[in-house]
Amino acid sequence: MRSYVIVGLGGRHELFRDAIISEFRNNCRLLALCDINQGRIDKSVKEAEEKAGYTVKGYHAYDFNLMLKEVNPDSVIVTTMDSTHDGYIIRAMESGCDVITEKPMTIDVQKLTNILGAQKKSKKKITVTFNYRYSPPRTQVKELIMSGAIGDIISIDFSWLLDTYHGADYFRRWHRNKRSSGGLLVHKATHHFDLVNWWIESVPSVIYAKGTRSFYRAETALRYRLSNRGERCHTCPEALKCPFRLNLSNSPSLKALYLDQENYDGHFRDRCVFSDQIDIEDSMNLSIEYQNRVRLNYSLNAFSPWEGYIINFNGTNGRIEHRMEETVYINADGTIPGAMKMDKTRTTLYPIREEPREMEIWEGEGGHGGADPHMLKYLFDPENQPFDKYRRASDHRSGAWSIITGISANRSMELNRPVRVDELISDMELPDFK
Ligand SMILES: NC(=O)c1ccc[n+]([C@@H]2O[C@H](COP(=O)([O-])OP(=O)(O)OC[C@H]3O[C@@H](n4cnc5c(N)ncnc54)[C@H](O)[C@@H]3O)[C@@H](O)[C@H]2O)c1
Repeated sequence: MRSYVIVGLGGRHELFRDAIISEFRNNCRLLALCDINQGRIDKSVKEAEEKAGYTVKGYHAYDFNLMLKEVNPDSVIVTTMDSTHDGYIIRAMESGCDVITEKPMTIDVQKLTNILGAQKKSKKKITVTFNYRYSPPRTQVKELIMSGAIGDIISIDFSWLLDTYHGADYFRRWHRNKRSSGGLLVHKATHHFDLVNWWIESVPSVIYAKGTRSFYRAETALRYRLSNRGERCHTCPEALKCPFRLNLSNSPSLKALYLDQENYDGHFRDRCVFSDQIDIEDSMNLSIEYQNRVRLNYSLNAFSPWEGYIINFNGTNGRIEHRMEETVYINADGTIPGAMKMDKTRTTLYPIREEPREMEIWEGEGGHGGADPHMLKYLFDPENQPFDKYRRASDHRSGAWSIITGISANRSMELNRPVRVDELISDMELPDFK
């Protein structure tokens, strides 16, 4: 039986909390929950105890160390705001705990260096929850590449699209500031760069990035005839005519998690997406070289009419074209996050001088296109899972290499020139690809 505490009790923690106290209750025990927001602590403890049928303790974040001392967990699960992951990861390892952390592992080079140093010293295990790897259609692409179907990969074109529901949501909350999230190239694209590193079994060496905030700005609000906007939707005089309004009162789960708890910390979940307080980009283009000489053209657009991605791999024996559309969602409103549209997911293999082959798509059910349930099994019941030839479990090395692309891209945009990873950090251990 392994014991856990969770720090960070927002939308995402519920996946881990509920897995521990329900599906994996025979192997796992939840000991305590911790946050800076007393309202969310009380809410989560109450829900956990009702579901688990045993006592779960609640701690304020300033008592994190006391919590570790008193309940002595095997593992700490970190699901706080991105910029605060590092402190909890390090303190957990220093106290002798393993760590499961949400992506991105952290947001800048200094915090990354501190985490890697603490891991080396403590030798504790960090798991970064890259659920995207577990999505069946993406595992299928991994299988195709591993089978040698297209030979050696030479170049990749990768476009990720966030639509104006999901994409807009990053411009309402803490994600809208680089000091909290690292921007979308760290916060969001850590998933995408991890997928590429994992698919091609290499890591980036040089990154050149350009980015702008072109859509989520006052000028766009004016195009929607919004000239008297408020700080947030809840009190905005123009809410009724704004197509980007998030009505927290209308969604019981969003209301309970955020609106009802904001008197504790002053955090608004529904800030105006056209605000000039935003400092992250919404349109980004990167050119990346990998250590194995693969070249990647990558773009991320956060105001797209549809949600999903297109990736094309060019190899010496052929080409893979893979495309997935996802349903839109707003975190914590009760819908399945990022569920893939089966009928809009395609993978086509184009062998050179042979007929193309449309692949029958591997399917899965549940959050993030079937990825979340798979990942939870490997997280909380690893002994009973078959050997994973795809090596989807990821540790601090994959966590580090997946964020270094975005961190280098941020630097590249500041300097307006290509940036070599080894200018920022050297001697990072390579992920365990084989
Ligand atoms: N893998 C995925 O698909 C996925 C999906 C959603 C979120 N996430 C990640 O999960 C994490 C949480 O995201 P979320 O959507 O739940 O955000 P959220 O805003 O709903 O929740 C964040 C929680 O952290 C708490 N918090 C903030 N600062 C803190 C601090 N210093 N100490 C303790 N608690 C603090 C907040 O009070 C809040 O309860 C993020 O790192 C995010 O990137 C991953």
